Amino acid sequence: MRDALWPILRAGLFRIDPETAHGLSISGLKTGLAPACALPADPRLKIELAGLSFSNPLGLAAGYDKNAEVPEAMLRLGFGFTEIGTVTPRPQQGNPRPRLFRLVADQGVINRFGFNNEGHAAAFSRLRPLPASALVGINIGANKDATDRVADYVAGIRTFYSVARYFTANISSPNTPGLRDLQGRESLRILLDAVLAARDEEAQKAGRSVPVFLKIAPDLTDEGLDDIAAEVLASKLDGIIVSNTTLSRDGLLDQATAREAGGLSGKPLFEKSTIVLAKMRKRLGPAFPIIGVGGIHSPETAAEKIRAGADLIQLYSAMVYEGPGLPARIVRGLSDLCNRDNLTSIREIRDTKLDHWALKNVAP
Ligand SMILES: Cc1cc2nc3c(=O)[nH]c(=O)nc-3n(C[C@H](O)[C@H](O)[C@H](O)COP(=O)(O)O)c2cc1C
Repeated sequence: MRDALWPILRAGLFRIDPETAHGLSISGLKTGLAPACALPADPRLKIELAGLSFSNPLGLAAGYDKNAEVPEAMLRLGFGFTEIGTVTPRPQQGNPRPRLFRLVADQGVINRFGFNNEGHAAAFSRLRPLPASALVGINIGANKDATDRVADYVAGIRTFYSVARYFTANISSPNTPGLRDLQGRESLRILLDAVLAARDEEAQKAGRSVPVFLKIAPDLTDEGLDDIAAEVLASKLDGIIVSNTTLSRDGLLDQATAREAGGLSGKPLFEKSTIVLAKMRKRLGPAFPIIGVGGIHSPETAAEKIRAGADLIQLYSAMVYEGPGLPARIVRGLSDLCNRDNLTSIREIRDTKLDHWALKNVAP
């Protein structure tokens, strides 16, 4: 689809319920209707991180392709990597509909899906045939009624080990009651010990170590961030993803939709998630891999996340407003930035605004 057609398609999609529109977009991608965007490889955008080689730093965040239906189609849109899930061991329905809301005036999204997904077996069956060059991460979680949540994450590692290029342990969805408690220091230590021990065992068997990242919420106090950083640095975790959606409703224009329960994402999340990203970069030091997510909607906001400390970046919600041409536009914009500022690598801008962001205060 050409960029010029997007406003027409968007007008049609915005007339229907957001979850139905999401389903239609997945069906469209499955049919192969979205053409491959011919992005020339730009060596200045290449990122080596956690033992992986990313053709560019922009990835699709978890939650769009929960069941691994369209990973290759997403890569063809220009993303350097894509993350499927969150997947839980057993299939689950999630919360009752409606559970996805657009805040058009704010270019935000509220969702309270609650990990609706088809379960490990269904996602795994789709992933098996993928070529090794497709950089697909697996985002793992726990069933809502799990009696042992840690065991659900361990099951994710074991089930997907042969197909995962990386794992994300998602402990920050606000829509599964109690899940975010795993971010507490003791619980986090137990989770990381178990998940990384399972990874190490599988690595022994496979002769290949798959990196594990941890995805955190933006709604953490400075003390909460201190605790996470201490546990992460004491462990063999390979990276951290900052951040998931927020419970905050600060500064929204669409006050009526703002009353819906769930996690807020998109433009209104940019500031908060970027502050938390910079605070974590300060705590984890320059060598620790960090993926910045939250509110990226343009080449400039993508670059700003890197300036605030991100090695890699991801987005989801802005695709709702900007359409499938967005990833290619951002990647081209990052190449333009390299031209303009004479950069030999996009990495050169990392941390250039670290203090600016780390010293800001997060609104409640
Ligand atoms: C509809 C929707 C569903 C999501 N589902 C998941 C999920 O299953 N697992 C997860 O880790 N994050 C999930 N997310 C969070 C995104 O991955 C991302 O962290 C967040 O939306 C911030 O990025 P954005 O502002 O670019 O959307 C979801 C986000 C949205 C909007």
